Amino acid sequence: MLNERLDALGDNPFYRLATLLAGRQPLANETPLLMSAGEPQHPPPALLAETVARNAHLWGRYPGNEGDPAFRRAVAAWLQRRYKLPEGMIDPDRQILPLSGTKEGLYMLAQVAVPAEKNGRRPTVLLPNPYYHVYSAAAAMSGAEPVFLPATRQSGFLPDLDAIPEELLARCAVFYLCSPANPQGVLAGLDYLKRLIELARQHDFLLVADECYAEIYDAAAPSGALEAAAELGGATDHVVVMHSLSKRSSAPGIRCGFVAGCPEVIRLFTRLRSYGGPSVPMPLLAAATALWEEETHVTENRNLYRQKFDIAERLLGGRYGFYRPPGGFFLWLDVGDGEEATSRLWTEAGIKVVPGGYIARPDADGRNVGKPYIRVALVHDAETVEAGLDRMVRVLG
Ligand SMILES: Cc1ncc(COP(=O)(O)O)c(C=O)c1O
Repeated sequence: MLNERLDALGDNPFYRLATLLAGRQPLANETPLLMSAGEPQHPPPALLAETVARNAHLWGRYPGNEGDPAFRRAVAAWLQRRYKLPEGMIDPDRQILPLSGTKEGLYMLAQVAVPAEKNGRRPTVLLPNPYYHVYSAAAAMSGAEPVFLPATRQSGFLPDLDAIPEELLARCAVFYLCSPANPQGVLAGLDYLKRLIELARQHDFLLVADECYAEIYDAAAPSGALEAAAELGGATDHVVVMHSLSKRSSAPGIRCGFVAGCPEVIRLFTRLRSYGGPSVPMPLLAAATALWEEETHVTENRNLYRQKFDIAERLLGGRYGFYRPPGGFFLWLDVGDGEEATSRLWTEAGIKVVPGGYIARPDADGRNVGKPYIRVALVHDAETVEAGLDRMVRVLG
């Protein structure tokens, strides 16, 4: 007797991709190039390893669940600077909690925020379609009904807030929003975020704003949900944001992010994590503190991505519905049949990408909004990306 919800969930997109490509070898004499996973390949700043080394004496200590005050203060100061929040809006001791990466936070938070019933009925968790696969797993494993809201070219690649039936909002416990969006790279503007917070308050659900790509942007810094909450008067009820060093500091291996916002949610999340949550080891937390206090490496990192979007624009402009994403580091390319293109790119050019249909769900009519697309991660250095996109055009035409 195992948990049947896991069976119903199916394999995550990367396992499905491995199954699709199993037994197929690239024909060409090309070195395989993985443009599938969103794993930043720029070297992390030296500050990271230096700070870990300086704090090596802390490896012998159990880390605390709440991190330490220096980390929470550094994060609160960063949030205030980055989003121009009023002084004192975020209390570092009641409204910030470190995470072992946002992935586990996004997943675990549903255990806190999804009640057994809402208004006497099964709760819903609303999430964009396509989506980061962790949202759907969090929803399903919490017992809620996941509801996938189309985020298509027609809706500006964000869920259309005016198209959500009242009935779903009434049952909603959690709304996952991703901005900058993975995979489409669009940004939710301040008005959109304010409207969503108002909906959350009106219908008593929690907005979980996944902002882990917030520092990877092209022209303008993305707005954030706390910034929107500040504009609405500064209260943080019904809102949390999640951030990470994985993309900002090109440090996915440090496994460190944070959640910030509604004090009541943070209180209960702290309690849940005190039972079963991972804690960030103290030398890593010290390095994370130093990284949140430092901006030069972030600017340099962002500029590297801009150069790669220049390359992508030059090579792919006019093909596959290319547009230059305002945020994040993915290309979302309309190639007609994403699964077929993925197979061909692997066998004919050794390039691995993600079929868009694997990160989206079919709607009630069986139509999968991601099916025509592939997701391409521009995580390598510029030269490698240029060579990879060249190979892509050679195969896809
Ligand atoms: C949309 C989104 N959210 C969260 C994460 C998790 O990142 P991390 O756990 O490294 O903070 C990822 C990772 O790729 C992501 O794409």
